[in-house]
Formats: sequence, structure tokens, C-alpha cells
Amino acid sequence: MSDNKKKFYITTPIFYASGKPHLGHAYTSIACDVLARWKRKTGHEVFFLTGTDEHGQKVAEKAKENKISEQEYVDSLIPNFKKVLETLNITNDFFIRTTNEQHKAFVQKMLSLCYEKGDIYLGEYEGLYCVGCERYYTQTELLEGNICPDHKKPCVQMKEESYFFKLSKYQDKLLELFEKNPQFLSPNQHANEIINRVKEGLRDISISRNKKTLTWGIEIPFDKNHVTYVWFDALFNYLSALDMNEKMEFWPADVHLVGKEINWFHTVYWPAFLMSAGFEMPKKVFAHGWWTVEGHKMSKSLGNVLDPIQLSEELGKDQLRYYLLSIGTFGDDLNFTKESFAEKINNELNNDFGNLVSRVHTLLTKYFGGSVPSAEKLDKEEVELTMSLNFFPDFDAHMSALRFKEALDLLWEKIRTVNAYINKVEPWKIQDTKRLESVLSVLTFAVQTFARYIECFMPETAQRIRKQYNFEEQDFSSFTAIPAGHKIGEKDNLFSKITLEKKAETKKEDSEKKEEKKTGFASLNLTVGEIIEVSEHPDAEKLFIEKIDLGNGDIRQIVSGLRAYYTKEEMLHKKVIVVANLKPAKLRGVRSEGMILAADDEEHVGLVLADAERGTQISCGKLQANATTRITVDDFFAVEMKSTGKEIHYENTALTANKKALYTDRNIVGNVR
Ligand code: ME8
Ligand code: MG
Repeated sequence: MSDNKKKFYITTPIFYASGKPHLGHAYTSIACDVLARWKRKTGHEVFFLTGTDEHGQKVAEKAKENKISEQEYVDSLIPNFKKVLETLNITNDFFIRTTNEQHKAFVQKMLSLCYEKGDIYLGEYEGLYCVGCERYYTQTELLEGNICPDHKKPCVQMKEESYFFKLSKYQDKLLELFEKNPQFLSPNQHANEIINRVKEGLRDISISRNKKTLTWGIEIPFDKNHVTYVWFDALFNYLSALDMNEKMEFWPADVHLVGKEINWFHTVYWPAFLMSAGFEMPKKVFAHGWWTVEGHKMSKSLGNVLDPIQLSEELGKDQLRYYLLSIGTFGDDLNFTKESFAEKINNELNNDFGNLVSRVHTLLTKYFGGSVPSAEKLDKEEVELTMSLNFFPDFDAHMSALRFKEALDLLWEKIRTVNAYINKVEPWKIQDTKRLESVLSVLTFAVQTFARYIECFMPETAQRIRKQYNFEEQDFSSFTAIPAGHKIGEKDNLFSKITLEKKAETKKEDSEKKEEKKTGFASLNLTVGEIIEVSEHPDAEKLFIEKIDLGNGDIRQIVSGLRAYYTKEEMLHKKVIVVANLKPAKLRGVRSEGMILAADDEEHVGLVLADAERGTQISCGKLQANATTRITVDDFFAVEMKSTGKEIHYENTALTANKKALYTDRNIVGNVR
């Protein structure tokens, strides 16, 4: 029966077994897991592969340092990698290790195939080699003094006999592949870089080392004096794993998910190796961006390497999984901050989602003794709401394209719609029992729907919702409605709010003190942001709550009085100007972290807009609004800015974002605040 299912093969890179796994490794694994789970739920037979890359000079050196064999050394590290997978509920189907005998034999077979084809030849390699990266560099790629840009250590000049793979031969075939299959290079933003580099011409690549300098690799079958390691060894894991599991029918891979720094090896070396050995091309290589932590690259010297196990214990497994995939567009570089983490969890998980699940449970318990009522008469509004919960095609399209954030945004739009509906119909005030039955049956359906969609992102949360509502686990190919009279289970609070330690705040204030006090326009921090979400303030008729993306993972929640002047739709996706250094405040109980600039003439209000990227800072002649010291609302009002109807002026000079003048939405002449 399972033979009828569509096959789906997804992989992570195999991680170097030379240290402890960190947040970056966990990230790729989580993203693959989310997609693998989704594909299983939507009728695919999935093979999800991850593992470790265990050969090479670095491992050999570390083993020597520790006075153990290379094998013992790598064996001692593998449990750390497996523990991360287990802790984060990663559902990989196999874990490959390149020291596995079957893998080695497979790679040898591939070497012979490519050799017989005339694509591997003996030559001499001379170059600057970084031991940390396990690769040669060209001088232009290195920092002054031949320092490796990654490891900040000098590269060594090496010359040796080596086998080469004829990469140059595949230039045209690769360009043809990129052209015929635009999906292959994903996401789109990296495609041109790769294509242009291939067009510039390809050099043949060294794939072996003489045993005199390195033995920790796979012996070349046609020359016992050489071993292969790193890319020829590592990339073929994607095939050897299928081979040893007798799952060759899963080839070609649907998605190789990798970090952007190894995109080149996966989009150029790998297809060339495959063409030479006579295999079909993978369908897609998707390169995601890099995480920084509080604005810094993770590094041992900074001591800011995040341990995924410790993080998930501190912050919650599902919370971590959710945060990593919802904070920014998948593919972009992203920045991990405790503050944005707390905001995401508090607003989206606790307030939006957790409260909905809990409210409906409470209502069912209070009015129907914990059983789901039958809906004999659905009012127009409930019919509409039910229809709006039919968003499978869009969600599936986002997921299949690895647009995880967009999928979650869509889901949260629905969650907020249901929350707004509850606030509007106020079930606790409904007198007509039939109507209340209909309302609650729709609400129960909504909770069940959301639990199904969220499962691939937050498996334990979905499970807990099922348990407290007694829902059965269901995939997306079949669906059974909740029968009337269905008894729900015991209540369970899904999330709790995170309060940040004060320590972080004091540190910030200390650094603020160091900055000299600026006045006027220069005391402001004005940054371009995109409105990515608008919702009604639950307790104030005139207020909106906006989410504004200031780029670099900085997403602000801002409460504004624009509700009387704009609809949600009009506001959405506008590029506005945020006063980003305003002290956060609570407005009617909701935290607001900044202000949006708007022009007003006492009667009308118009947003101030920019034609520039998120994160662009506003200038005024020579002045820059890039202050970091926090200011009060009064400080802000002291800076007088005016709208001429066309431009925005401070002291008769136009405000600009990346050299383009700011403007008002509605040609308003008046003050800007
Ligand atoms: O490159 N942000 O292994 P590796 C996001 N063995 N992702 C990150 C990250 C960060 N800061 N740091 C690491 C290798 N990653 C080779 C691969 S494949 C045939 C051989 C993730 O241990 C990301 O997926 O250096 C990146 O590509 C991978 O870890 C690199 O792991
Ligand atoms: Mg690396």
C-alpha cells in the first residue's frame, strides 16, 4: 500500500564530528523535521536523513591531541549529536556516519565509476590550506598574512600529489541544469551568484591526499597510497545512506537543506559528481541563512555558542522550534535575542494561541459540562468562519516551498480571526442556547484545526491539545468531524509568559550612558520598518497593535491610534518610519516599543512612508537619526518635524531614507509625530 505513496527525500548536511553541535546545527535539523512531518501528514512516504562527517585532518589532529584513535574520538562525539535530535523531537529516519563500512565501500565504488569515465586523474596540488576548514584557499579569499577568514589562523602552503576531479568538464552541463530547473538553486536570492561563478569558469578540484600526510579518509580503490575525504566522501552520504537502507527508490532527493556557506559544494560539486557517476539530479538545494546571537557571530572566543539542549530546557522545546522558524524569512540571516524570543512566546504563543485553546475549553466546560454541542443551526457568521478555516492549499504551498514563516503567518492570521470573533460574539452573553451551541461547535472545530496545522512545528503542543480535548490524531488526507456529545479532557495550560531578567536591561543602560548626549534630530533613532501585522487592541476601540519588522530580526510591537484613520488592510505591508529608541511603554495593558511617524493637520492623518529597505536609517542633510540612547515621548515631541504635503522637513531640510525623500501618504500639511 505504501508503494502508492509519493516518495519524499530530505536531508540535512552531515555535521563535522569535531566538536559539540550548536544552535546552527539544530536549526537545520528542525527545519528539515518540520517539512518531513508535514510531508508525512500530507500523504508522502518520507525518508529524512541526517548524520555526521567524520573524516579529515581536523579529526586526526584532535584524536592525536586526546591520545586516542580517530575512531574512538569520533565515537565519543556522536552521542551529543543524537541527543540533540532526541531532545528536539527530530524524526530522522536514519543517522549516517561516514566511518560506516558500507558508506566507505559505496564511495569507493563511486570513485571507480568516475575514474573509469576519465573524470579523475592524478596531478599535483599546491596551495594554501586551512586545516580548520579542510580546504585549500586562493590568496584572494584570505585575509592579510594568508589568514583564514573563518578560523583567523594562518593557512599553510602545501604541495602534494593528488587526484583531481574534472569539474571544468561540467561547466556547460551545470549551467544547463540551472536553466532547466530554476528550483534547483533555492532560494532565488543565491541563484545568480552561483550561476555567475560557474560562468567564470571552473577549476578541477583535488579530491585526495597522500597517505604520507593524511590517513584518516577512504582509500582510493585504484591507488592505495591515497585517501579521499571531505567533499567526495561527504556528499555521497546522501546516496550511500539510501543504498545501505535499500531505499534507492527515494532518489533523486527532493530537498538538500544546507547552510549558505556550503551551498557551492552542493550546487556545483555535487551535481557534477552525480553526472559523472550517472545519477539523476536532486530536485532542490535550499541554502538557508546564518544565525547570529545578540548581533554577534557565534564563536568560542566570544563564549556565545548556544547549546540547543540547554536552550530547549530553559525555554521549551516547542517554543524553540517555533521561534527559530517564525522570527524571520527562512533563507535570510537571522539574529537570536532573548528579547525577541520572549516577545514571540508571550504574544503569539501565550496570548494568541494558548489563550484561544484555553478559552474554548473553559467555555465548553462552563456551558456544556465539557461536551461538544451539536450545531443544528449555523448562522451566517459561523458558516463564514468555518469556510475561512479551509486554508490548506495556501498553507501547503508555503510549506512545500520552505516558506515556514509565511505558513505560520497564515496560521496566526486565522488564529487572530477566531480570537476577534470570540470578542465580537461574546459567547458569555449569548442567551439563545441554539446559537451558543453553534458558536461553540465552530470554536471547537477551530481549535482542532489549528492543532493539526501546528503539529509539524510544535509536536508536543499538538499532542497536549489533543489530550485535553480528546481529539484523535489525524492526517490531512482524511478528516472526521467531532461528533456531538464528544467529551473533552482535562485542561492543560500550554504556555507561560517569559519575564526577562533585569540584568540585561541594566547592561543596556550602562552602555547607553557612555554615548554622549545628543539633541534635536540626532537624538532620535528613526528606522524604516515594514508593517507585517495589524490587529485591534482588545481593550481600546481607537488603538491598533502593529507588528513592524525593522530588519535583522528586530520585530517591534507598537500600539498606535491609527485605527480611526486606516483599515488594517491599508496599513499592512506599508514601509513606515519607526521611532526605535523610545522607552517601551504599556498602552492599555499592551506593550508598545516605539512610535510610527504620521503627519496630521488636526483633522486628517497620513502615515510617513519611505521607499527603502527595512532597517534603513533616516537622515536629514548631514544629520543621522541613529541614536541608541532611549528617549521619552516628551524628548521626541521636542523635535519639531513638519510635513509640507510632499516632503517631511526638520529645520527646513528634507528627511531621506537611502537618499530618497520621505513622503506622506495623504499629502497632509502639518506636524509630524
Ligand atoms: O559543513 N546558522 O559541517 P558543519 C545557521 N560537514 N546554520 C548553521 C550555523 C549558523 N550559525 N552554523 C552551522 C559541514 N549551521 C560539512 C557538511 S554535507 C555533505 C558536509 C548548520 O559541522 C548549517 O546547516 O560545519 C551549516 O551548513 C552546517 O551547520 C555546517 O555544519
Ligand atoms: Mg562549517
